[in-house]
Amino acid sequence: MDTKMSTRKALIGGNWKCNGTIASVKSLVAEFNKAKGAMPSNAEVFIAPPAIHMGLVADNLCKDFALSIQNVWSGKKDFGAYTGEITPAMAKDFGVQWALVGHSERRHTVAHESDELLNQKVLATLAAGMKVILCVGETLEQRDGGKAKCVVLSQIKYGISGVKISDWSRIAIAYEPVWAIGTGRVATPEQAQEMHKAIREWISANVDSKVANSVRIMYGGSVKPANCKELWKMGDIDGFLVGGASLKPDFLTIVGCVKDGAGL
Ligand code: PGA
Repeated sequence: MDTKMSTRKALIGGNWKCNGTIASVKSLVAEFNKAKGAMPSNAEVFIAPPAIHMGLVADNLCKDFALSIQNVWSGKKDFGAYTGEITPAMAKDFGVQWALVGHSERRHTVAHESDELLNQKVLATLAAGMKVILCVGETLEQRDGGKAKCVVLSQIKYGISGVKISDWSRIAIAYEPVWAIGTGRVATPEQAQEMHKAIREWISANVDSKVANSVRIMYGGSVKPANCKELWKMGDIDGFLVGGASLKPDFLTIVGCVKDGAGL
């Protein structure tokens, strides 16, 4: 469905990536706290700060925003000798609800994580009782080679392998074409819709039709106040994963577009 008919609650996340100082985090949190009590009722909003700033954000950001970790350890044990890692159990204990898994900077550019490792992260995160955003997306080369859908659907197939139907209420998918991340080159609403629809159809055929109807599929890649309204009109776009613009008050404008397009 290309026009918006769904009753799925919007899911909008701000991924701060590896950015910020104590001072800049405090000032951004103060900006975001202006949205206290003003969140659209049809939206769920989270922030994914760098792990080192999670405590600062948790202590100061109003509870209208949920928290996400940007990456998690893949093992099933709650604690152990995994220097530099954070287990899903530790994130959950801290009050973090969401985990990003397979962000393109983990999958492609920075950490080169495999489908198998990302699947372990999905399963470990769900086992700890947290919610997962499985990020998928094709490179420019793959798109130009006509392989975009095949690549994205394969990332989903491997990413969700072994997930129980009952756990799908704690999964969201983020479609983030790699060529649109941090480049200023956003996918057109039609390009994004086409992929979101293909993802939903794949889930319907290979997982469950009710799951396909309820799962939220976010779009990510150069989302800004100037392009979010047109993207949001698309029937299978259920929210956004925002990078650069989530480091600015622009993020609140993007959140507000799911209400009436007027910002918060
Ligand atoms: P961007 O990043 O909005 O800066 O393109 C999106 C993302 O990486 O999630």
